[in-house]
Amino acid sequence: PPAPFPARPGPGSMAAGRNPFQGGDVMSSKDSFSIVVFGASGDLAKKKTYPAIFELFSQGLLPSRMRIMGYARSSKTDEDFRESLRVYIKSSDSARVEAFLAMCYYRNGSGYDDEEGFATAIAEMHELEQADGPVAANRVFYLALPPTVFSKAGAVIKAKGMSESGWNRVVVEKPFGKDSASSAKLSATLAKHFTEDQIYRIDHYLGKEMVQNLMVMRFGNAVFEPIWNRHYVKMVTITFKEPFGIASRAGYFDQYGIIRDIMQNHLTQVMSIVAMEPPVSLSAEDVRDEKVKVLRSVVPVREEDTVTGQYRGDSDHNAYLEEEGVPEGSTTPTFATTVVFIQNQRWNGVPFILKCGKGLNERKAEVRVQFRDAPHFLYAGGARGQVHAVKQTPLDQGTAARSRAPSGASAGGVAAAAAGSGAVAGAGACSVASTGGAHSVDDDGRGFDGGWHCAAASGPSNELVIRIQPEAAVYLKVMSKMPGLDNVISSSELNLSFDDRFPLRKSPEAYARLILDVMRGDQSQFVRSDELAAAWAIFTPLLHRLEGGPGYEALGPKAPVLYRFGSRGPVEADLLLNGYGFT
Ligand code: NDP
Ligand code: BG6
Repeated sequence: PPAPFPARPGPGSMAAGRNPFQGGDVMSSKDSFSIVVFGASGDLAKKKTYPAIFELFSQGLLPSRMRIMGYARSSKTDEDFRESLRVYIKSSDSARVEAFLAMCYYRNGSGYDDEEGFATAIAEMHELEQADGPVAANRVFYLALPPTVFSKAGAVIKAKGMSESGWNRVVVEKPFGKDSASSAKLSATLAKHFTEDQIYRIDHYLGKEMVQNLMVMRFGNAVFEPIWNRHYVKMVTITFKEPFGIASRAGYFDQYGIIRDIMQNHLTQVMSIVAMEPPVSLSAEDVRDEKVKVLRSVVPVREEDTVTGQYRGDSDHNAYLEEEGVPEGSTTPTFATTVVFIQNQRWNGVPFILKCGKGLNERKAEVRVQFRDAPHFLYAGGARGQVHAVKQTPLDQGTAARSRAPSGASAGGVAAAAAGSGAVAGAGACSVASTGGAHSVDDDGRGFDGGWHCAAASGPSNELVIRIQPEAAVYLKVMSKMPGLDNVISSSELNLSFDDRFPLRKSPEAYARLILDVMRGDQSQFVRSDELAAAWAIFTPLLHRLEGGPGYEALGPKAPVLYRFGSRGPVEADLLLNGYGFT
């Protein structure tokens, strides 16, 4: 059988913990176990939820007395439904796939508030749960639904779905609301039906291997924590890029936009882990207490620190406005960059840059911690001190594989031109740090960025990069002497690639890890209601301004800047970052 999931640390310990199912956990339990997937006919259920449950099944991590009921409005037979799942359940072991599908069945109701239809489906499920004799029945209700129907589904679960003989847990997908007020209303509605320990607000970025590794990197090593603060860190960039558009999700996406789809949840969650204080223990409440604390220290983001964009098409790709279902003249952003400040003793004055977009040049998600320049950098300029920034890593895709720029005036000139407003012009001899791209003039003739920046007149930055995807990696950029009689130094990497270092271990799907946590009753990787409120407080004023919402009706919506599909996004975003000294 495949190797089991890596053991998880237990509360209060940084050491690797016990196997999650040893010692009377779900799998060894005699209880009956059911998952009800609301919206089972939809995109998320088919592409993520069921494949994740299958992954757990394949690893032998599901209990034997288990069934999964899909529930939605569309009418389907069990066989039709299983057929629709087969496309997404990838395995060469067809017997295993069939055994899994035999646990899955499907029922429909006339709506998510159809109490009668749901009661009939639940009565049938109860029969199955008790088929082998009376046992406690534990139930997970997974709401793979648009947020507009969360409240209705919650009410119907409470009225007709709750098990009286075991535990009940409800998994709610993001986005949880559209702003502070609507999110508070949704939280209040759910709180009428369920206690906080029954609600699992899922953000699948928290289940990604590298996001989980962030805490280990920070708190499991002695070397990072002393420099993890404003005295050593110049800025932090958290990036999410996708090379495709919104596909068939216009109905959802146009209502929400990229800030609610990615920035307010996935990027903000990652930022909270990068920035939080060490928790007292790894228990759910201790970890979430620290995340809430740091989020409450964030100043609401400002319009002048934000650039929003929308992709335009080319001969091969639709513009956002041409996607099926997008209303004419929509101003919904598909790209956003903003600068976040955390007002506390550790981070005061350090810009946290959040950047996300669809229809960009690559698929990538990463955290980039840029450290302050070395004081009195000995190797800048001078006869012996020629500095070259040499791009040697295949990790920085999109950059010329090996490129050089001499120190001094020419690179400084590029940087000065790049900065536009003159933010980072180098004086005299300057060191050179490699940057992420060889972007120049965009298709609209606006642009800059020769791929080289002069990091003012001091020294080069060290950078710690935590690559979440596509390939999990951690690397630290350091200056190093190149071999030879001359004195040429280069920017190189101390590189930990997970595929190379752990070739026999496979990273689990984020959803598989999180569904396993729901089954185990571990809420540490789920969003608590006060955490959610703090995250909305950061973005609500900006969203209202951009959309002409409460307080800004007279100004109306603000149009995003257009950028070419497949590009790095609007040039204005790069200019914004350069203004903050990003190199
Ligand atoms: P879908 O649009 O596919 O909706 C899921 C199901 O809900 C549909 O099959 C449909 O089932 C029902 N439904 C759709 N619209 C309505 C409506 N207006 N009223 C009542 N029922 C409706 O959504 P996704 O599966 O893409 O997303 C579900 C949730 O998961 C959302 O909250 C989304 O933000 C979140 N999410 C999605 C991701 C993805 O990759 N798709 C990734 C991360 C989160 P029927 O008509 O049969 O009832
Ligand atoms: C979802 C967003 O939460 O995350 C999607 O709704 C996005 O728009 C997806 O495509 C990205 O997830 P991943 O795991 O592919 O990076």
